[in-house]
Amino acid sequence: MNCVNAMMTTPLLQVRDLTTTLVQRDGMVPLVRGVSFDLHAGQTLALVGESGSGKSLTALSLMRLLARNAQWQCGGQAIFTDASGQTCDLLQLDNAHMRRLRGHQLAMIFQEPMTCLNPLLTVGEQIAESVRLHWGVNKVAARQRALQALEQVEIPAARQRLDEYPHQLSGGMRQRVMIAMAMVCEPKVLIADEPTTALDVTIQAQILALMSRLQRDTGMSILFITHNLGVVAHHAERVAVMYAGQVVEQSGVHALFAQPAHPYTRSLLACLPGRARQLSLREGHRMVLQDIPGQAPNMNRLGSGCSFAERCASRMALCDVQAPVWQGDDAHARACHLEYRP
Ligand SMILES: Nc1ncnc2c1ncn2[C@@H]1O[C@H](COP(=O)(O)OP(=O)(O)OP(=O)(O)O)[C@@H](O)[C@H]1O
Ligand SMILES: [Mg+2]
Repeated sequence: MNCVNAMMTTPLLQVRDLTTTLVQRDGMVPLVRGVSFDLHAGQTLALVGESGSGKSLTALSLMRLLARNAQWQCGGQAIFTDASGQTCDLLQLDNAHMRRLRGHQLAMIFQEPMTCLNPLLTVGEQIAESVRLHWGVNKVAARQRALQALEQVEIPAARQRLDEYPHQLSGGMRQRVMIAMAMVCEPKVLIADEPTTALDVTIQAQILALMSRLQRDTGMSILFITHNLGVVAHHAERVAVMYAGQVVEQSGVHALFAQPAHPYTRSLLACLPGRARQLSLREGHRMVLQDIPGQAPNMNRLGSGCSFAERCASRMALCDVQAPVWQGDDAHARACHLEYRP
């Protein structure tokens, strides 16, 4: 997934100080805490971090699809430049405007396809519905476009699949249908939340190759959430590492593997077996994030210091009392009190 001049242009999506707080009867739980990143046209930005670090909540906040069974408060900005060049803040848009963008200019692939495929509608009906809604074309044209989308994701016997229901398809095929649904209206930004974790390694590789090809063909940008550092090495240009609801390091993918700057990132990479750190840059696909020693902090009771301090081998007295500031530059930066020597 390549993007040569992306860094020179205005980002397509500028996320600034995004906060997502769970509102509970007995208090507020800050789960996404001041996340900022830029996503440029045609670029793939990987969001990595251990389970519970807030990756999905970040994505769902941007898509305005946070679970309805809870009460949320979002803050910050997510400035999106739409296809006509106009900018808007996704967090401030009214619901109708957001619905028009979603599925059309912004799309999301979820980890588990059955959560977003309707079991009562055929694959063709579901894909065509999105086309009719966003492009305002008639039924015949929408079905034709749905067929084309299934062919694009290389589903065998695509015409026959149009009239099948999700339960009639294999896991890999459902994942392709979900990608077809996300891609059918040619979004500018695709958020892919662990899109291949449930699949076996061969199918994973096929789906990832397919996403790369679709990205090359359409020039879309991808926010790629994954536990797999091999996938990061192969498919992303930039990486943002999340810990306890915050981004703690951001850099180009090669710099992150070659010179991880945050102690958390270093621990993650140190967990990779043997020569995997070097290999992962070439080999890919198998370098799944391992758990590092210690426990993630309780998000109900965060202190004023660095949230990684308790697990950090380089912990200093300052780390317990003062939140670290960002050091570095646009190319490579981290939030840590240690002296920064790029
Ligand atoms: N609907 C919800 N209600 C209450 N808490 C939630 C809800 N969704 C997420 N959380 C909490 O928010 C935190 C971040 O969750 P999130 O799903 O964003 O993690 P993640 O980084 O995507 O993890 P994973 O890698 O396991 O998918 C977790 O502590 C989680 O328990
Ligand atoms: Mg998640």
